[in-house]
Amino acid sequence: MKIAVPRETADGETRVALTPQIAGQLIGDGVEVLVQSGAGAASSNLDEAYREAGATIVPDAPALYGKADVVVRVGRPSDEEVEMLRKGTVLIGTLGTLSKPELARKLAKAGVTAISMDAIPRITRAQSMDTLSSQATVGGYKAVLIAAERLPKFFPLLTTAAGTIRPAKGIVMGAGVAGLMAIGTARRLGAVVEATDVRPVVKEQVESLGGTFIEVEMTDEEKARAETAGGYATEMSDDYKRRQAELIAERVKEADFIITTALIPGRPAPKLVTDAMVASMKPGSVIIDMAAEMGGNVEGTEPGKEVVKHDVLIVGLTNLPATMPGSATQMYAKNLHTLIKHLMKDGELHVDLDDEITKGATITHGGKVVHEATAKALEPKDS
Ligand code: NAI
Repeated sequence: MKIAVPRETADGETRVALTPQIAGQLIGDGVEVLVQSGAGAASSNLDEAYREAGATIVPDAPALYGKADVVVRVGRPSDEEVEMLRKGTVLIGTLGTLSKPELARKLAKAGVTAISMDAIPRITRAQSMDTLSSQATVGGYKAVLIAAERLPKFFPLLTTAAGTIRPAKGIVMGAGVAGLMAIGTARRLGAVVEATDVRPVVKEQVESLGGTFIEVEMTDEEKARAETAGGYATEMSDDYKRRQAELIAERVKEADFIITTALIPGRPAPKLVTDAMVASMKPGSVIIDMAAEMGGNVEGTEPGKEVVKHDVLIVGLTNLPATMPGSATQMYAKNLHTLIKHLMKDGELHVDLDDEITKGATITHGGKVVHEATAKALEPKDS
């Protein structure tokens, strides 16, 4: 079996699907690994290291795709890359077909078996394959470092001969994987941190990291509704959103920085910070909107850009993991390796749709879109 690692083509992407170390382990298991020349250069994984691990360096994408049984990538393939995939190839990557289902249709038509890392079920057994979590960990950490670097003041409390410096105050909105990492990182830098989330279960986790939970009073019905069986948030009622906004508006005025991470799978990101709230912040304050790609949690966020609104800097970078490609790639490659081992039988990949993890992650197979939620997203909408 030949596993091919192309160079990522999306703007600003610096990660690569496999590290030389993981490539070496796959080769040890009897797999052939082909790497497009320069694929790992932006994450400091050089051709030489892949070669030393036993991989073959292939000069360009057409040559690579032409030989591959399995193509592993970080992001979505472009249309040209989909055309390069041979019928029967297994493609594994972060395909995001819930938000862009058209890609699934194209891959099914091309006879490609597509497996998406972002569709792996969030179950304990699949934790070591969970790239959403590993990449959110990188993103949450980096968001705080960017906030600390852009903020014109210290994070920690300092008592110096030049006076006492009050610690920076931050709010983290959405205390999932990225948010909890952000809380922990900001606390380690000495900031005072508050956090908010619709899932009441995270209160304890926020507090264990030294943060204060901003608690929106909830009815029993709202508590039951807030979290799906998979641990994800659901969209809340307008009344809940109003109460949450009132509470947040008060806290925002005091904040030096805000990091927003709130997402609802398959839906636009909830708007949590209005333009009026941005205007109420102190000049020089910083907002990092980690939900920028899904429309943003902040009114005024421009995806991929840093903008100043009401003297507040709003950072809408859409691919924070790519700003730390070394660790992000190391974690992604490890997750991917675990998935490949899960799928491998007698040296080949087997797509067993009776297996919960494989079924959850497989988007196309046998010329069809087999992933239910993606297939649903492709259905014509009632007008
Ligand atoms: P996410 O990236 O989908 O969302 C981030 C956070 O935003 C979540 O905590 C969500 O509750 C929150 N949020 C959504 N709407 C909001 C609103 N209107 N206001 C405030 N906050 C809002 O979630 P993530 O981080 O990918 O994971 C969420 C949870 O999934 C985890 O905390 C965990 O419970 C579960 N999970 C389970 C795993 C496993 O068992 N393998 C692995 C990873 C996550």
